[in-house]
Amino acid sequence: MNEQPWMFLYSRKGSENWTIMFDALMEGNQAWAHRAPILILCMAKKNFDYKNRPNRHYAHDLGQAVANLSLQATELGLNLHQMGGYHADQLEVAFKVPENWESFSVIALGYPDKADTLEEPFLSRELAPRQRKPTSEFVRTEAW
Ligand SMILES: Cc1cc2nc3c(=O)[nH]c(=O)nc-3n(C[C@H](O)[C@H](O)[C@H](O)COP(=O)(O)O)c2cc1C
Repeated sequence: MNEQPWMFLYSRKGSENWTIMFDALMEGNQAWAHRAPILILCMAKKNFDYKNRPNRHYAHDLGQAVANLSLQATELGLNLHQMGGYHADQLEVAFKVPENWESFSVIALGYPDKADTLEEPFLSRELAPRQRKPTSEFVRTEAW
């Protein structure tokens, strides 16, 4: 249906909307995200425009859009950090998000600074090796 059911509400540091987004972040995220020049609220539309039928893939589609944003941001030398740790209800009320839409994450976006400008525990986290599961843990040829 070519629904493209995603919406990105972005805000610049210093604006009222940035403060609203920042205030909705969990404390652990506020501790580092206060340096982010851009915060983005990521949302997806639950139903198709066509006959208002449920779109089973709305969250999947948003995830794909964010994955591609991540790649493009990296290509441009930017750094993008997704956060699920925020009060979704608070932002849905503040930004009058319609009933048919749901928010899933807030993204902090900016150019990366040097790691040594960070204090602990952020310095260690930044310098820690990035870990990913081995492919064998998530690819299979047999039923469960
Ligand atoms: C849906 C989702 C929610 C996340 N929530 C948070 C969060 O609230 N706070 C946080 O610091 N990282 C969160 N992360 C993790 C980071 O966005 C990032 O994926 C992780 O730090 C790995 O970074 P790397 O790709 O540089 O290894 C979340 C990731 C995803 C995909």
